[in-house]
This record gives sequence, structure tokens and C-alpha cells, in this order.
Amino acid sequence: MKFIFVDNPNEGGIKGAQVFKNALANNAKTFGLATGSTPISTYNEITKSNLDFSNKISFNLDEYIGLKPTNPQSYHFYMNKYFFSVKPFAQSYLLNGLATSEEAELARYDRLLEKYPIDLQLLGIGKNGHIGFNEPGTPFDLTSHKVKLTESTIKTNSRFFNNINEVPKYAFSMGIRSIMSSKQILLEAYGEKKADAVAKMINGPVTEQLPASILQTHQNVIVIVDEAAASKI
Ligand code: GLP
Repeated sequence: MKFIFVDNPNEGGIKGAQVFKNALANNAKTFGLATGSTPISTYNEITKSNLDFSNKISFNLDEYIGLKPTNPQSYHFYMNKYFFSVKPFAQSYLLNGLATSEEAELARYDRLLEKYPIDLQLLGIGKNGHIGFNEPGTPFDLTSHKVKLTESTIKTNSRFFNNINEVPKYAFSMGIRSIMSSKQILLEAYGEKKADAVAKMINGPVTEQLPASILQTHQNVIVIVDEAAASKI
């Protein structure tokens, strides 16, 4: 793992956008994108830049089950707002949280991921060490799957909703096997609330109980952290 220490998320965004720029310079074609508050500064830098994704492909890590793409809490909505409305891709793939056949939807995503291998995958990290919506206990060899969100994640993510009852209980997520197949991974973490997860990801055992710990076994990972998130390393 290569570390980039920054003073704050804004500086992290500048460094994050540089990683995207380098990937484009190295002819990356497919980008794996994340949601949450963490990647916003990177997306802001990218949308301000002259980087061009109009002949590239994107995949998103996850989506809540049951939310329409027009719901402001859906990850479809988030991606349009922070990225695609300014920098469109030739093709952006997201899991469809309204799919009538969950099985068919997951199979569709896995087929697409096989067809278009990800060159650069951006990740945040949950307080419990989740990546995407791969919660603690998720087998490392899963591909796309349905997830029952943990109470911890529901509580944490409720800050974006009017009340906790509106937070979906289930989501679709790309699996850890697919994440690990990416050529390069960029994980960003900011703030004291991520310090425990970041420390365990780096120094703890590689265990399904801390999904991000699997990244210790990937050959090309860049971690951008601020001082608070790095405080327990
Ligand atoms: C959500 C997302 C993750 C994200 C995590 C952290 O649960 N599914 O992909 O990394 O939250 O979010 P934040 O960046 O807002 O702390």
C-alpha cells in the first residue's frame, strides 16, 4: 500500500483527482466509483478539471434496494449530482435498486464487470471497515450480491435521511472479488471516526470481519488519509 497523507479532505480531493489523471494518462478505460461523503472532494476536483471521461466506462459499487434513481438519497442521484451531470461517461453502469428480478440484476452486473475489467476503483471505508456495502462477515470471494445492512451502517447513513426509518434495510453491492480484480485501488478516509477502521485495515489481520483488510493483499493500492483518520495507525 502506498500512503498519501493530507491535511484535510480538500487536499485529499486534489490528490485523488491526480490519481484519476494518472490513470487516464495510462490509458485506463474503466473506472469504479464510490459514493458517501468521502469522495465528494475528489469529484469536485475532477469536475473542475479538464479531465475527460466521455469515451470511458464507469461502474458504481452499490445501490440501495427500493430507491428510485430520482430519490435524492439514491446513489444514482448522487452520481448524477456530483459527477455525471458535469463529466459524462460513454457508459455508466449502476446496480438497479428497483430490479424486479434481483438474481437477474446481479448476474447482469457480474457479466458487465467481466466484460469491462476495472482499471481504477475508488473506495471509501465504513466505520466498521466495510467497502462498498460489503459488511463485516461477507465472504471475500463473493461477486455482486444482495446485502442486509448492519444496524451500524443504517444508523451512520441515517444522517442523510429525514429519519432512520427511511433508510433502506437492503442494498446491492459489488463483491469483494470484483473489487480485488481492479488493477488499481484508491481508498480515501477522512476524520477521526474512520481511525479505528483505517488502523485495522492496515495493521490488523486479513479477516472477513474487517472487509477492507483484504486490501493488504492487493498489489496496487493507494490510500489517501488525513491526520485524524491516520491517528491510530
Ligand atoms: C456507505 C457506502 C460506502 C462508503 C461508506 C462511507 O455505506 N456504501 O461505499 O464508503 O458509506 O461513507 P462516508 O464516505 O460518507 O463516510
